Amino acid sequence: MKILLAGATGVVGRRLIPLLVQAGHEVAGTTRRTERADLLRELGATPVVLDVLDADAVHEAVAAERPDAVIHQLTDLSAEDFAANSHLRIEGTRNLVDAARAADVETMIAQSIAWLYVPGDTPAVETDPLDSSLPPYEGIAALEAAVAEMPHGVVLRYGALYGSGTWYASDGAIAERVRANTMREAPSWTSFVHADDAASAALAALDWPAGPVNVVDEEPATTADWLPVYSAAIGAPTPGNAGKHAATTGRPVSNAKALSLGWKPQVASWRTGFSRMNAATDAVTELGTAAEAAGADDAAKANGAAPSR
Ligand SMILES: NC(=O)c1ccc[n+]([C@@H]2O[C@H](COP(=O)([O-])OP(=O)(O)OC[C@H]3O[C@@H](n4cnc5c(N)ncnc54)[C@H](OP(=O)(O)O)[C@@H]3O)[C@@H](O)[C@H]2O)c1
Repeated sequence: MKILLAGATGVVGRRLIPLLVQAGHEVAGTTRRTERADLLRELGATPVVLDVLDADAVHEAVAAERPDAVIHQLTDLSAEDFAANSHLRIEGTRNLVDAARAADVETMIAQSIAWLYVPGDTPAVETDPLDSSLPPYEGIAALEAAVAEMPHGVVLRYGALYGSGTWYASDGAIAERVRANTMREAPSWTSFVHADDAASAALAALDWPAGPVNVVDEEPATTADWLPVYSAAIGAPTPGNAGKHAATTGRPVSNAKALSLGWKPQVASWRTGFSRMNAATDAVTELGTAAEAAGADDAAKANGAAPSR
């Protein structure tokens, strides 16, 4: 298949390109920055320099590439600008869907999040309602609704991404908060997913039926469970109180649907994943990091500040 990967340079996108290529797909990957074109070529994609907020440019790019599927891995989170991220989810997704439909593209796979389910006593499944009314998450409902307009639209509700290049990496913002003991008390659940497994789900989703799918690991955790393990993994003392951080919800999230579709996380639990986070297992990401360092446009990117809610 010919794939247009929007957000090809992000935490998931850069891991996904080699998976798509190895599976026999031809990949065109987007970035706004010409200096990242070499990174995309190294990873195996043809670079497409594009700002998805420019509707005309998106129409032109999709019409020119004529992809069989669009994979949307766009976020705007490096600078902790949640208004910009919401705007991207709303307008960027709108532009992508309109352009894809105009070009008779049937399939779109899009990144969403798994921590907006309304509170409940049981693990959240895809048919449970979301509460995306409050900032910074008002863009999620628009994103998911737009993708549902596609003949074949699959929404991947990712848990909290961890792994190299994420906020949870040892040089990331969550690690800094833990080291600084600035996390605030918030008894809550987090469902994690390693960024490599998030990428493998996006590849698999090309064959999944339309609709939302939770993409989380096997062990939803309370902060009291994961924080000591995480702290040990980054060599920091466990903070004296439980932490407020990204991706907290009032309930665990179920991955039963993804498992039933044949996806299985290679890192079944954050328990083992945290300790492997910065090991050589992230070869693809290391390649990307090296290429970016050579491009030298955004050394600060990996240290982008973490969100809170
Ligand atoms: N579920 C989660 O927990 C979750 C999900 C996503 C991100 N995050 C966290 O957020 C942090 C930043 O994520 P990230 O490294 O993936 O970077 P990011 O800055 O959020 O960018 C992601 C991708 O979107 C692209 N993009 C952004 N705005 C665009 C626009 N207007 N037009 C076209 N492309 C656009 C970027 O391309 P450019 O090359 O043009 O910048 C990049 O390819 C990481 O720590 C990550 O862990 C967490």
